[in-house]
Amino acid sequence: MLARVTTFAIDGLESRRVSVEVDIRAGLPAFRVVGLADAAVREARERVRAAVLNSGFEFPQRRITANLAPAYLRKVGPGFDLALAIGVLAASGQLDAERLAGWAVFGELSLGGELRPGRGTLAVAEGVRRCGLEALVVPVESAAEAALVDEVCVAPAATLRAAAEILDGKRAPEPVPDAGEEATPPLAELDGDLAEVSGQAEAMAAMEIAAAGGHNLLMEGPPGVGKTMLARRLPGILPALTREEALEVTRVYSVAGLHRGGGLVSRRPFRSPHHTISPSGLVGGGARPAPGEASLAHHGVLFLDELSEFPRSSLEALRQPLEDGASTIVRGQQARVFPTRFMLVAATNPCPCGHAGDRRRCRCTEADVARYRRRLSGALLDRFDLLCSLQRPPAPRVAAGEPPRSDRVRARVTAARERQARRFAGTGIACNGQMDSRRVRELARLTPDAEGALHAAYEREALSARGMQRVARVARTVADLAASDAVHRDHVATALALRQDRLGLAIAA
Ligand SMILES: Nc1ncnc2c1ncn2[C@@H]1O[C@H](COP(=O)(O)OP(=O)(O)OP(=O)(O)O)[C@@H](O)[C@H]1O
Ligand SMILES: [Mg+2]
Ligand SMILES: [Zn+2]
Repeated sequence: MLARVTTFAIDGLESRRVSVEVDIRAGLPAFRVVGLADAAVREARERVRAAVLNSGFEFPQRRITANLAPAYLRKVGPGFDLALAIGVLAASGQLDAERLAGWAVFGELSLGGELRPGRGTLAVAEGVRRCGLEALVVPVESAAEAALVDEVCVAPAATLRAAAEILDGKRAPEPVPDAGEEATPPLAELDGDLAEVSGQAEAMAAMEIAAAGGHNLLMEGPPGVGKTMLARRLPGILPALTREEALEVTRVYSVAGLHRGGGLVSRRPFRSPHHTISPSGLVGGGARPAPGEASLAHHGVLFLDELSEFPRSSLEALRQPLEDGASTIVRGQQARVFPTRFMLVAATNPCPCGHAGDRRRCRCTEADVARYRRRLSGALLDRFDLLCSLQRPPAPRVAAGEPPRSDRVRARVTAARERQARRFAGTGIACNGQMDSRRVRELARLTPDAEGALHAAYEREALSARGMQRVARVARTVADLAASDAVHRDHVATALALRQDRLGLAIAA
């Protein structure tokens, strides 16, 4: 007898419909899985056999062939367990095969027959909707994630037996558990508040501008002045994720196996990979293409601490994702695209010992310092609109004025982003940091006075053409923070003060 069960395979960030056909006929007892299945899928046979028996069903002592179709699609991972088990039960008459139409199932099995969440449930639920199927059986832990997709009836099951009885119409599904108010506390509560940082007013201003315009930011300074501390507080001043953005982030985390079955990810990601990370770890890759750190930072912050320690190959690999907002991984005939729209924030010391500028402490030779800076001045430096230099902060009690609070900064950043959203409506870009040269000319709206200031700087300080655009982009954000439609002279002055070449990290641009 033949039974057909619908499930899904994860391919990049997408799900692809897979039909599991199980045929049982007389012959020596055997269980074969065919249809371009990898080792992990073949291993599923043992789990399926044990799970079926341990759930109180019979495992047919006949010749069983399971075919995963379409055959050209590579099937990887343990996500086919449930579909195989249900197929065996249906083909052996232990549940009504007729009732499976319109249903999809997705989950892994334990030997004892419990259902376990698989990677990519959100993408699977989206596939169920796309294919016009009605309902999806998933493990209880995955249900809240699956239920993020409207129009799909989610049927949570704790065990193989429960799943079989739900499909057979003998049992009602468990209720979909509440996703919980995951991460509803403001980010600042989780990652610390700007108010805890003493001094560093200039760096905080740079952070606010970077957050408001989506500009990449490089911080330079000696050890222990708060570079890492500040970077960690950046997600706390970024605007809340929209639902669309949150769904994208959830999809990435779910496929990466870092978010199994919860509700929507509602925090902006903050990723801080170590400099020993491989290029494919950074931008995605592997035999079974998986998202890299750049995608895990999608809609959030990618923080490269100790930038000068990152090998050139890694920084080179980041160029395309930074440019395109996506990382494309080609395997054979197929290309997978992972989104990578993140803010890049990096920190570096000014010299190998970290104390350049402090004559008593820095023992580095001029050649040491020059070599150190050359390592930075290549590939990536060009991508930073903002650069700020941090010094040792004053002792907390002498710090003047009230320190900024993350929630207040975030309110200003959100207002500035809303202005940009109105200006960029229909252009496909979201913020000033994404403006190319044409958009800068069309949309930055510099007053003649501001234009004059920019050209004066060009003459006076040998600013490159690219450098001028960077200044114009940042000035546009400064104006947006000031709720000004036009960019005035003083906005340009602020942007010029946060310019890269000031740090002497000579950029060839
Ligand atoms: N401006 C500051 N205000 C309050 N605490 C600070 C400040 N700077 C540093 N600290 C304290 O020192 C610790 C180390 O700071 P942090 O790791 O941010 O330094 P860093 O600039 O990243 O140094 P490194 O170059 O060594 O990475 C922080 O966890 C914090 O406790
Ligand atoms: Mg640090
Ligand atoms: Zn030094």
